[in-house]
Amino acid sequence: MKIGILSSGGDCPGINATIRGVGKTAINHYGMEVIGILNGFSGLLYKDVIELTDPSLSGILNLGGTILGTTREKVFRKMITSPDEKDREQIKKCYHELNLDGLVCIGGNGTQLTTWMLSQLGLNVVGIPKTIDNDVYGTDVTFGFDSAVNIATEAIDRLHSTASAHRRVMVIELMGHHAGWITLFAGMAGGADIILLPELGYDMEVILEKIKKRMEVGKAYSIVAVAEGIKIPKRKERPAIYFAREIEKQTGFETRETVLGYIQRGGSPSPYDRNLGTLFGGHAAQLIHEKKFGRMVANIRNEITDVPLKEVAGKLRLVTPDTPLVVQGKKMGISFGVR
Ligand code: F6P
Repeated sequence: MKIGILSSGGDCPGINATIRGVGKTAINHYGMEVIGILNGFSGLLYKDVIELTDPSLSGILNLGGTILGTTREKVFRKMITSPDEKDREQIKKCYHELNLDGLVCIGGNGTQLTTWMLSQLGLNVVGIPKTIDNDVYGTDVTFGFDSAVNIATEAIDRLHSTASAHRRVMVIELMGHHAGWITLFAGMAGGADIILLPELGYDMEVILEKIKKRMEVGKAYSIVAVAEGIKIPKRKERPAIYFAREIEKQTGFETRETVLGYIQRGGSPSPYDRNLGTLFGGHAAQLIHEKKFGRMVANIRNEITDVPLKEVAGKLRLVTPDTPLVVQGKKMGISFGVR
Protein backbone atom coordinates (compact mmCIF):
# COMPACT_ATOMS: atom_id res chain seq x y z
CA MET A 1 0.00 0.00 0.00
CA LYS A 2 1.12 3.56 -0.63
CA ILE A 3 -0.18 6.40 1.52
CA GLY A 4 0.18 10.18 1.58
CA ILE A 5 0.20 12.47 4.62
CA LEU A 6 -0.57 16.19 4.58
CA SER A 7 -1.06 18.96 7.12
CA SER A 8 -3.43 21.84 6.44
CA GLY A 9 -4.73 24.97 8.20
CA GLY A 10 -3.04 26.87 11.05
CA ASP A 11 -0.13 24.94 12.55
CA CYS A 12 0.06 23.78 16.16
CA PRO A 13 2.54 21.96 18.37
CA GLY A 14 2.38 18.19 17.80
CA ILE A 15 1.93 17.94 14.02
CA ASN A 16 5.40 16.47 13.53
CA ALA A 17 4.83 13.93 16.31
CA THR A 18 1.66 12.93 14.45
CA ILE A 19 3.34 12.70 11.04
CA ARG A 20 6.00 10.53 12.68
CA GLY A 21 3.29 8.40 14.35
CA VAL A 22 1.49 7.78 11.04
CA GLY A 23 4.68 7.28 9.03
CA LYS A 24 6.65 5.02 11.36
CA THR A 25 3.60 2.81 12.05
CA ALA A 26 2.78 2.60 8.34
CA ILE A 27 6.36 1.76 7.37
CA ASN A 28 7.50 -0.45 10.24
CA HIS A 29 4.27 -2.17 11.27
CA TYR A 30 2.30 -2.37 8.04
CA GLY A 31 5.09 -2.31 5.45
CA MET A 32 3.56 0.61 3.57
CA GLU A 33 5.25 3.14 1.32
CA VAL A 34 4.74 6.71 2.60
CA ILE A 35 4.95 10.11 0.95
CA GLY A 36 4.54 13.56 2.45
CA ILE A 37 2.40 16.04 0.51
CA LEU A 38 3.78 19.55 0.89
CA ASN A 39 1.89 22.71 1.84
CA GLY A 40 -1.53 21.28 2.49
CA PHE A 41 -4.00 20.31 -0.20
CA SER A 42 -2.29 22.43 -2.83
CA GLY A 43 0.63 19.93 -2.77
CA LEU A 44 -1.82 17.27 -3.90
CA LEU A 45 -2.83 19.30 -6.96
CA TYR A 46 0.71 20.29 -7.92
CA LYS A 47 2.11 16.88 -6.90
CA ASP A 48 4.55 18.58 -4.62
CA VAL A 49 5.65 15.59 -2.57
CA ILE A 50 8.58 14.07 -0.68
CA GLU A 51 9.36 10.49 0.18
CA LEU A 52 9.07 9.73 3.90
CA THR A 53 11.28 6.97 5.26
CA ASP A 54 11.94 5.77 8.79
CA PRO A 55 15.22 7.75 9.04
CA SER A 56 13.63 10.89 7.58
CA LEU A 57 10.96 10.71 10.30
CA SER A 58 13.53 10.61 13.09
CA GLY A 59 14.41 13.66 15.18
CA ILE A 60 11.11 15.46 14.60
CA LEU A 61 9.06 14.33 17.62
CA ASN A 62 9.74 17.44 19.67
CA LEU A 63 9.71 19.98 16.83
CA GLY A 64 7.00 22.63 16.52
CA GLY A 65 5.50 23.57 13.15
CA THR A 66 5.25 20.91 10.45
CA ILE A 67 7.98 19.40 8.27
CA LEU A 68 5.39 19.21 5.46
CA GLY A 69 4.42 22.88 5.56
CA THR A 70 0.81 24.02 5.74
CA THR A 71 -1.48 26.57 4.16
CA ARG A 72 -4.90 28.06 4.69
CA GLU A 73 -5.39 28.27 0.93
CA LYS A 74 -9.09 28.01 0.05
CA VAL A 75 -8.54 27.32 -3.68
CA PHE A 76 -8.60 23.59 -3.16
CA ARG A 77 -11.88 23.64 -1.24
CA LYS A 78 -13.42 25.92 -3.86
CA MET A 79 -12.41 23.39 -6.51
CA ILE A 80 -14.18 20.62 -4.62
CA THR A 81 -17.36 22.57 -4.01
CA SER A 82 -17.27 24.01 -7.54
CA PRO A 83 -19.89 22.51 -9.84
CA ASP A 84 -17.24 22.32 -12.55
CA GLU A 85 -16.65 18.61 -13.17
CA LYS A 86 -13.19 19.38 -14.60
CA ASP A 87 -11.93 20.49 -11.17
CA ARG A 88 -13.11 17.35 -9.49
CA GLU A 89 -11.55 15.21 -12.18
CA GLN A 90 -8.29 17.10 -11.74
CA ILE A 91 -8.19 16.29 -8.02
CA LYS A 92 -8.92 12.61 -8.60
CA LYS A 93 -6.32 12.52 -11.37
CA CYS A 94 -3.62 13.92 -9.08
CA TYR A 95 -4.48 11.44 -6.32
CA HIS A 96 -4.36 8.50 -8.76
CA GLU A 97 -1.21 9.72 -10.53
CA LEU A 98 0.51 9.61 -7.16
CA ASN A 99 -0.65 5.96 -6.92
CA LEU A 100 -2.12 6.53 -3.49
CA ASP A 101 -4.14 3.87 -1.70
CA GLY A 102 -4.90 6.23 1.15
CA LEU A 103 -4.49 9.82 2.29
CA VAL A 104 -4.16 11.08 5.88
CA CYS A 105 -5.21 14.72 6.33
CA ILE A 106 -4.08 16.42 9.55
CA GLY A 107 -6.01 19.59 10.30
CA GLY A 108 -8.72 21.52 12.11
CA ASN A 109 -12.39 22.01 11.26
CA GLY A 110 -11.84 23.37 7.76
CA THR A 111 -9.53 20.47 6.92
CA GLN A 112 -11.98 17.87 8.23
CA LEU A 113 -14.67 19.37 5.99
CA THR A 114 -12.39 19.23 2.95
CA THR A 115 -11.37 15.67 3.86
CA TRP A 116 -15.01 14.62 4.02
CA MET A 117 -15.61 16.24 0.62
CA LEU A 118 -12.68 14.25 -0.77
CA SER A 119 -14.25 11.06 0.53
CA GLN A 120 -17.40 12.06 -1.38
CA LEU A 121 -15.26 12.14 -4.52
CA GLY A 122 -14.33 8.51 -3.82
CA LEU A 123 -10.84 9.07 -2.38
CA ASN A 124 -9.61 6.87 0.49
CA VAL A 125 -9.15 9.43 3.24
CA VAL A 126 -8.70 9.53 7.00
CA GLY A 127 -8.72 12.78 9.04
CA ILE A 128 -6.68 13.54 12.15
CA PRO A 129 -7.90 16.51 14.25
CA LYS A 130 -5.36 19.15 15.24
CA THR A 131 -5.64 22.68 16.58
CA ILE A 132 -4.70 24.72 19.62
CA ASP A 133 -8.36 25.85 19.75
CA ASN A 134 -9.70 22.39 20.80
CA ASP A 135 -12.89 23.07 18.84
CA VAL A 136 -13.00 20.08 16.47
CA TYR A 137 -16.37 18.38 16.80
CA GLY A 138 -16.32 14.63 17.44
CA THR A 139 -13.23 14.47 19.66
CA ASP A 140 -12.88 15.46 23.32
CA VAL A 141 -9.41 16.84 22.70
CA THR A 142 -7.04 17.82 19.87
CA PHE A 143 -3.27 17.84 20.11
CA GLY A 144 -1.84 21.36 20.27
CA PHE A 145 -4.36 22.42 22.91
CA ASP A 146 -2.35 21.26 25.92
CA SER A 147 0.81 23.03 24.69
CA ALA A 148 -1.12 26.26 24.08
CA VAL A 149 -2.76 26.08 27.53
CA ASN A 150 0.68 25.58 29.14
CA ILE A 151 2.06 28.65 27.39
CA ALA A 152 -1.01 30.78 28.16
CA THR A 153 -1.01 29.67 31.81
CA GLU A 154 2.62 30.62 32.21
CA ALA A 155 1.84 34.03 30.72
CA ILE A 156 -0.99 34.58 33.22
CA ASP A 157 1.24 33.38 36.08
CA ARG A 158 3.77 36.02 35.09
CA LEU A 159 1.15 38.78 35.04
CA HIS A 160 0.26 38.21 38.71
CA SER A 161 3.50 39.59 40.13
CA THR A 162 3.66 42.71 37.99
CA ALA A 163 -0.08 43.36 38.48
CA SER A 164 0.33 43.03 42.24
CA ALA A 165 3.44 45.24 42.37
CA HIS A 166 1.66 48.09 40.54
CA ARG A 167 -1.89 47.49 41.86
CA ARG A 168 -3.17 47.23 38.31
CA VAL A 169 -5.84 45.43 36.37
CA MET A 170 -4.27 43.19 33.71
CA VAL A 171 -6.28 42.08 30.69
CA ILE A 172 -4.81 39.21 28.68
CA GLU A 173 -6.25 38.14 25.33
CA LEU A 174 -5.84 34.52 24.29
CA MET A 175 -6.42 32.71 21.00
CA GLY A 176 -9.15 30.21 20.21
CA HIS A 177 -10.97 31.65 17.17
CA HIS A 178 -14.72 31.25 17.92
CA ALA A 179 -14.07 29.02 20.94
CA GLY A 180 -13.14 29.88 24.52
CA TRP A 181 -11.34 26.63 25.46
CA ILE A 182 -7.81 28.04 25.78
CA THR A 183 -9.06 31.02 27.78
CA LEU A 184 -11.17 28.82 30.06
CA PHE A 185 -8.41 26.30 30.77
CA ALA A 186 -5.53 28.78 31.06
CA GLY A 187 -7.72 31.30 32.90
CA MET A 188 -8.68 28.73 35.52
CA ALA A 189 -5.18 27.24 35.80
CA GLY A 190 -3.63 30.71 36.00
CA GLY A 191 -6.05 31.96 38.66
CA ALA A 192 -7.71 34.70 36.58
CA ASP A 193 -10.43 36.60 38.45
CA ILE A 194 -12.60 37.25 35.41
CA ILE A 195 -12.78 34.90 32.40
CA LEU A 196 -14.60 36.14 29.30
CA LEU A 197 -15.67 33.54 26.74
CA PRO A 198 -17.42 34.05 23.38
CA GLU A 199 -19.86 31.25 24.13
CA LEU A 200 -21.17 32.88 27.35
CA GLY A 201 -21.19 36.57 26.35
CA TYR A 202 -20.72 39.29 29.01
CA ASP A 203 -22.30 42.25 30.75
CA MET A 204 -19.85 45.15 31.25
CA GLU A 205 -21.57 46.13 34.53
CA VAL A 206 -20.86 42.68 35.99
CA ILE A 207 -17.17 42.98 35.06
CA LEU A 208 -16.82 46.47 36.57
CA GLU A 209 -18.67 45.46 39.76
CA LYS A 210 -16.38 42.48 40.24
CA ILE A 211 -13.21 44.57 39.86
CA LYS A 212 -14.46 47.31 42.22
CA LYS A 213 -15.50 44.73 44.81
CA ARG A 214 -12.08 43.10 44.70
CA MET A 215 -10.41 46.45 45.36
CA GLU A 216 -12.88 47.23 48.18
CA VAL A 217 -11.98 44.01 50.04
CA GLY A 218 -8.28 44.74 49.70
CA LYS A 219 -7.43 42.66 46.65
CA ALA A 220 -5.15 45.18 45.05
CA TYR A 221 -5.09 43.78 41.55
CA SER A 222 -7.22 41.81 39.10
CA ILE A 223 -6.51 39.53 36.17
CA VAL A 224 -8.97 39.38 33.29
CA ALA A 225 -8.54 36.59 30.69
CA VAL A 226 -10.47 37.29 27.50
CA ALA A 227 -10.89 35.07 24.45
CA GLU A 228 -10.11 36.65 21.08
CA GLY A 229 -13.49 35.53 19.70
CA ILE A 230 -15.61 37.56 22.12
CA LYS A 231 -17.94 40.08 20.47
CA ILE A 232 -17.17 43.74 21.15
CA PRO A 233 -18.72 46.92 19.70
CA LYS A 234 -15.93 47.71 17.20
CA ARG A 235 -15.27 44.50 15.29
CA LYS A 236 -11.75 45.46 14.23
CA GLU A 237 -10.51 46.41 17.69
CA ARG A 238 -8.61 43.83 19.77
CA PRO A 239 -10.80 42.69 22.70
CA ALA A 240 -7.90 43.18 25.17
CA ILE A 241 -7.60 46.83 24.14
CA TYR A 242 -11.35 47.37 24.34
CA PHE A 243 -11.74 45.85 27.81
CA ALA A 244 -8.59 47.51 29.22
CA ARG A 245 -9.76 50.94 28.04
CA GLU A 246 -13.31 50.52 29.36
CA ILE A 247 -12.17 49.12 32.71
CA GLU A 248 -9.71 51.98 33.28
CA LYS A 249 -12.22 54.63 32.14
CA GLN A 250 -15.08 53.30 34.23
CA THR A 251 -13.27 52.23 37.42
CA GLY A 252 -10.33 54.64 37.51
CA PHE A 253 -7.95 51.71 38.16
CA GLU A 254 -4.79 51.64 36.10
CA THR A 255 -5.19 48.89 33.51
CA ARG A 256 -2.84 47.27 30.97
CA GLU A 257 -3.46 44.83 28.14
CA THR A 258 -1.46 41.91 26.72
CA VAL A 259 -2.25 40.12 23.46
CA LEU A 260 -0.39 36.81 23.62
CA GLY A 261 -0.88 35.89 19.95
CA TYR A 262 1.16 33.36 17.98
CA ILE A 263 3.44 32.48 20.92
CA GLN A 264 0.59 30.10 21.80
CA ARG A 265 1.03 28.20 18.54
CA GLY A 266 4.79 28.06 18.22
CA GLY A 267 7.53 25.92 19.67
CA SER A 268 7.90 22.45 21.04
CA PRO A 269 4.80 20.36 21.89
CA SER A 270 4.10 19.34 25.49
CA PRO A 271 4.70 15.67 26.38
CA TYR A 272 0.90 15.17 26.39
CA ASP A 273 0.59 16.52 22.83
CA ARG A 274 3.53 14.45 21.59
CA ASN A 275 1.89 11.30 22.92
CA LEU A 276 -1.60 12.22 21.70
CA GLY A 277 -0.17 12.92 18.22
CA THR A 278 1.71 9.62 18.31
CA LEU A 279 -1.47 7.71 19.27
CA PHE A 280 -3.61 9.56 16.70
CA GLY A 281 -1.01 8.88 14.00
CA GLY A 282 -0.81 5.16 14.81
CA HIS A 283 -4.60 4.87 14.75
CA ALA A 284 -4.81 6.60 11.36
CA ALA A 285 -2.28 4.13 9.88
CA GLN A 286 -4.34 1.26 11.31
CA LEU A 287 -7.56 2.63 9.78
CA ILE A 288 -5.90 2.80 6.35
CA HIS A 289 -4.52 -0.73 6.75
CA GLU A 290 -8.03 -1.97 7.61
CA LYS A 291 -9.45 0.05 4.70
CA LYS A 292 -11.74 1.99 7.05
CA PHE A 293 -11.92 5.24 5.12
CA GLY A 294 -14.00 8.40 5.49
CA ARG A 295 -13.32 8.53 9.23
CA MET A 296 -11.70 10.98 11.66
CA VAL A 297 -9.46 9.78 14.46
CA ALA A 298 -10.73 10.90 17.89
CA ASN A 299 -10.12 10.77 21.61
CA ILE A 300 -13.39 10.07 23.37
CA ARG A 301 -13.32 9.67 27.15
CA ASN A 302 -9.59 8.96 26.93
CA GLU A 303 -9.97 6.22 24.36
CA ILE A 304 -8.35 6.52 20.93
CA THR A 305 -11.09 5.75 18.45
CA ASP A 306 -12.62 7.12 15.23
CA VAL A 307 -15.87 8.72 14.06
CA PRO A 308 -17.47 9.09 10.61
CA LEU A 309 -16.32 12.32 8.93
CA LYS A 310 -19.85 12.70 7.64
CA GLU A 311 -21.14 13.17 11.20
CA VAL A 312 -18.53 15.66 12.38
CA ALA A 313 -17.42 17.72 9.38
CA GLY A 314 -18.57 21.33 9.40
CA LYS A 315 -19.54 21.37 13.10
CA LEU A 316 -17.82 23.19 15.99
CA ARG A 317 -17.21 21.99 19.54
CA LEU A 318 -17.75 24.89 21.94
CA VAL A 319 -17.76 25.63 25.69
CA THR A 320 -21.22 25.47 27.32
CA PRO A 321 -22.52 26.75 30.69
CA ASP A 322 -22.35 23.09 31.83
CA THR A 323 -18.65 22.64 31.05
CA PRO A 324 -17.22 21.40 34.40
CA LEU A 325 -14.57 24.14 34.71
CA VAL A 326 -17.21 26.83 34.17
CA VAL A 327 -19.52 25.29 36.77
CA GLN A 328 -16.69 24.89 39.31
CA GLY A 329 -15.27 28.35 38.55
CA LYS A 330 -18.65 29.97 39.27
CA LYS A 331 -18.93 28.07 42.57
CA MET A 332 -15.57 29.56 43.57
CA GLY A 333 -16.61 33.11 42.80
CA ILE A 334 -14.77 33.52 39.51
CA SER A 335 -16.69 35.85 37.23
CA PHE A 336 -17.52 34.83 33.68
CA GLY A 337 -18.87 38.31 33.01
CA VAL A 338 -22.49 37.21 33.17
CA ARG A 339 -25.01 37.19 36.03
O1 F6P B 1 -6.88 28.00 14.68
C1 F6P B 1 -5.74 28.37 15.34
C2 F6P B 1 -5.61 29.85 15.38
O2 F6P B 1 -4.38 30.17 15.99
C3 F6P B 1 -6.75 30.59 16.07
O3 F6P B 1 -6.66 30.52 17.47
C4 F6P B 1 -6.60 31.97 15.49
O4 F6P B 1 -7.80 32.67 15.53
C5 F6P B 1 -6.19 31.67 14.08
O5 F6P B 1 -5.60 30.40 14.09
C6 F6P B 1 -5.20 32.64 13.45
O6 F6P B 1 -5.08 32.29 12.13
P1 F6P B 1 -3.95 32.75 11.11
O7 F6P B 1 -2.80 31.81 11.27
O8 F6P B 1 -4.57 32.58 9.77
O9 F6P B 1 -3.61 34.15 11.45
